[in-house]
Amino acid sequence: MQKLRWGLVGGGEGSQIGFTHRAAAQLDGHFYFDAGALDIDTEKSKSFGRKLGLTDQKSYGSWEEMLEKEKKLNKEKRLDLVTVATPNSTHFEITKSFLKEDFNVLCEKPLSMTVEQAQELVKLSKDMGKICAVNYGYTGYPLVRQMRSMIMNGDLGDIRLVFAEFAGGFMADESDAQNPRVKWRFSAKHAGMAAITIDCGIHALNMACFVTDKKIVKVSSDFFSGIKSRELEDDNLSSFRMENDVAGRLWTSGLAIGRTHGLTLQVFGSKGGLSWKQEQPNQLFWTPINDSTRIIERGHPNLYPSAKRINKITIGHPEGMIAAFSNIYKDLFENINARKFGKNPSELSKSYPTVEDGCHSLEIVKAMKKSVSLNGSWARV
Ligand SMILES: NC(=O)c1ccc[n+]([C@@H]2O[C@H](COP(=O)([O-])OP(=O)(O)OC[C@H]3O[C@@H](n4cnc5c(N)ncnc54)[C@H](O)[C@@H]3O)[C@@H](O)[C@H]2O)c1
Repeated sequence: MQKLRWGLVGGGEGSQIGFTHRAAAQLDGHFYFDAGALDIDTEKSKSFGRKLGLTDQKSYGSWEEMLEKEKKLNKEKRLDLVTVATPNSTHFEITKSFLKEDFNVLCEKPLSMTVEQAQELVKLSKDMGKICAVNYGYTGYPLVRQMRSMIMNGDLGDIRLVFAEFAGGFMADESDAQNPRVKWRFSAKHAGMAAITIDCGIHALNMACFVTDKKIVKVSSDFFSGIKSRELEDDNLSSFRMENDVAGRLWTSGLAIGRTHGLTLQVFGSKGGLSWKQEQPNQLFWTPINDSTRIIERGHPNLYPSAKRINKITIGHPEGMIAAFSNIYKDLFENINARKFGKNPSELSKSYPTVEDGCHSLEIVKAMKKSVSLNGSWARV
């Protein structure tokens, strides 16, 4: 099958997430890096694009210029997918503008700054008949897909409790708190409704929803700022309830020195429990009730088809974050191609995180803020 044309907005030189997107989009040979507006600075944007192999015409100085020129190209030459990897406050405007001109978009999380904006993007993508995905890239790990399949197939029995954590020490240094690259993350104007909850917590919440296939219906939250000069929280401990009365707990923090990245997900059902850590993503720990723990290895032939489908290298050779993100691109490739050629995408390829998922995350954070304002009382999502 032919490669699809891919464009990137943001993710310039030295950015945190740009390299991972470029590597992931091209890893399976599905997408061809065709155009970019990579930096807020016009000259840097053009020169970095050229350095990465884009032609002069396709190394744009701004996303507005990229949109203006790309939308005029005929069907064969048009971008099939645009990834938005700029800071949070710009996601809504850029995503909306590309969707409106009939492009498919993969937007970094958070989808937008407010629930209302997210709802607008849900409607717009429907009206335009375009894919709008949100990069909850950790759902692309094969063993996270295995968790979901095990839960869907009843291996854990009735799900009772989900424990989701994204707590690390990455925002714990008070002497670095005024650094502009750190400071914006704790400012309502630039980060949105919340800080660590938006930056990290929503990944863990999204994974809780993804593996259980359930939405969160109410929350009770305690936000805390360990570094007192911060406008927004750097720690959040929340309880939540999901559909079917599943209980959930979230701990997200930037203060947890020593926990490195700290993304973990545990699910407990009536027949057993599962535990997965992003820092050891190639092993999933499965404990049937009244039995000892066993290790499920990525790449083993006895995995569910959802995990086998996206396995890339042999068992025992570690796969990581780039491979996980590439699986989101693989799903998008299948879905975009299916739409292009009037075919049905495979059921398994529909696992990518959608604009509705991105909107649900913001609804949860809004309810958490409400709960905080009510001293931790339950607030409906
Ligand atoms: N899904 C994940 O696991 C994950 C991980 C890290 C970051 N992110 C998200 O990715 C986004 C970017 O984060 P980051 O840490 O890479 O930020 P960063 O500050 O390191 O880099 C942002 C890049 O975007 C460029 N940029 C800013 N405004 C722009 C504009 N208007 N047009 C074009 N380029 C522009 C900057 O020049 C820079 O190159 C954030 O929304 C963040 O939440 C997601």
